[in-house]
Amino acid sequence: MRVGIATDHGGFVLKEDVVGKLRDAGHEVVDFGAHSLNQDDDYPDVVTPLAKAVVGGEVDRGIAICGSGVGASVCANKIPGVRAALIHDHFSARQGVEDDHLNLICMGGRTIGPAVAWDLIQTFLAAEFSQAERHLRRLGKVASLEQGLRAR
Ligand code: RB5
Repeated sequence: MRVGIATDHGGFVLKEDVVGKLRDAGHEVVDFGAHSLNQDDDYPDVVTPLAKAVVGGEVDRGIAICGSGVGASVCANKIPGVRAALIHDHFSARQGVEDDHLNLICMGGRTIGPAVAWDLIQTFLAAEFSQAERHLRRLGKVASLEQGLRAR
């Protein structure tokens, strides 16, 4: 799978670890940075290009890390077509894709360790959207919000 990844300083150490594991697992990795540790960098500067690459199909799925994962998720969800969430449990890493068609996982480099992060990422990448009618209906209502229509 072609996987995009981005982090600010808050997740830089975790991102470096994850990139190595992804490559070892046979994934193609597009690293949107940060490419060095800079305590003054800003997560929107790396998360936004990643989010756009997910929507544009340049990568199949995205991983965005910051200190807590909160800023990364808030930022990523501003890009139409992105379905991002802060995920720190195994169940949601799978079900978020199966039910909600998650295409970008967010996590906190200061809140989880490398083993849990890797489990979440493997689970997220292995999961597939169910295509179930009820989930398509719900996602249609979510998508309508991006088009300025009201979802009931
Ligand atoms: C940066 O210090 C920190 O605020 C950022 O990485 C992230 O946690 C924001 O949500």
